[in-house]
Amino acid sequence: MTDAGMETDKVAVVGAGAIGAAWAIVFARAGFSVGLYDVSEEQGERARALISERLAELDRFGLVGAPVHEVRKRIAIGTDLAAALADACLVLEAGPERIEVKQAIFADLDRLCTEDVILTSSSSALTASRIAASLEGRHRCLIAHPGNPPYLLPVVELVPAPFTDAAVFDRAAVLFSRAGMSVVRLAKEVDGFVFNRLQGAMLREAYCLVRDGVIGVDDLDAVVRDGLGMRYAFIGPFETSDLNVAGGIEAHAARMGKAYHTMGLERGQDDPWTEDLVRRVTEERRRKLPLEALGERVAWRDRRLMALARLKASVIHDDA
Ligand SMILES: NC(=O)c1ccc[n+]([C@@H]2O[C@H](COP(=O)([O-])OP(=O)(O)OC[C@H]3O[C@@H](n4cnc5c(N)ncnc54)[C@H](O)[C@@H]3O)[C@@H](O)[C@H]2O)c1
Repeated sequence: MTDAGMETDKVAVVGAGAIGAAWAIVFARAGFSVGLYDVSEEQGERARALISERLAELDRFGLVGAPVHEVRKRIAIGTDLAAALADACLVLEAGPERIEVKQAIFADLDRLCTEDVILTSSSSALTASRIAASLEGRHRCLIAHPGNPPYLLPVVELVPAPFTDAAVFDRAAVLFSRAGMSVVRLAKEVDGFVFNRLQGAMLREAYCLVRDGVIGVDDLDAVVRDGLGMRYAFIGPFETSDLNVAGGIEAHAARMGKAYHTMGLERGQDDPWTEDLVRRVTEERRRKLPLEALGERVAWRDRRLMALARLKASVIHDDA
């Protein structure tokens, strides 16, 4: 059997809270059947109402891509774990963020699922090493960490444990891509993964600036909302730096590296952008975008910012 041959068109979601209900929407919207399980019947009912509401809203913005009632019908909600797991090729665990609960859920999943089923956890901070190390089927376990809500923020971080099988990792990437997610593969486990480490870096500095009386909370939010965040809707921090200086990211590092290092030292962080590191980043950027194409890309970025500026202006008059 080929790897693709192992996949069915069904996934199971374990835990029907905010993230579990959102995962159900993501996969059902992409055409998968979804078994959505929760220990609590009440929580299942809440998820049913939330899914209907969110699907109706998404549809209003043209973000469902199929008749809502059909998408809703693909999601079966219940308190029977075996029924939710039946025929699923992928399990998304979205239970409480407590290690003992996740370990118990994964032990059940490993016992109940056939060997070819991939087991993922949405955990924001617990690694697969901590959740699944003692399981016989630990090779098929990994983290698939979404942003919230995943039906609007498409990124998912796939994080393998040292024991995660490479073929399982690849199959998981294909399945999440089929669900319309933007799949990011981490090479190894790190506390907080990448999404929350980046978020944390900005938030730590924001707290320091408010603490030190440099800026107020509202003004700090405006710097991100009306500045940095506008660019980040289309390009990340590396591409931003690449496009901001003639000569690209290498020139940016030569011009700004020392100043950023000094700002880091002020916070007790001694992480200079060394020549080697800048060379690695530059090489990757130049493979993605040759220096000759930089000007064209800057014009593209500006057109994206114009479209965003128009959208933000229209939203002021539209409270939807
Ligand atoms: N909320 C976020 O912003 C966010 C973002 C990314 C990842 N996550 C992660 O996703 C996971 C779920 O987060 P959430 O915000 O949806 O939590 P939540 O508290 O809203 O939902 C957890 C659900 O799990 C259910 N549950 C409890 N024990 C269970 C068990 N043994 N089996 C099955 N279900 C069980 C609860 O009834 C509840 O419905 C957590 O690991 C969290 O860290 C959350």
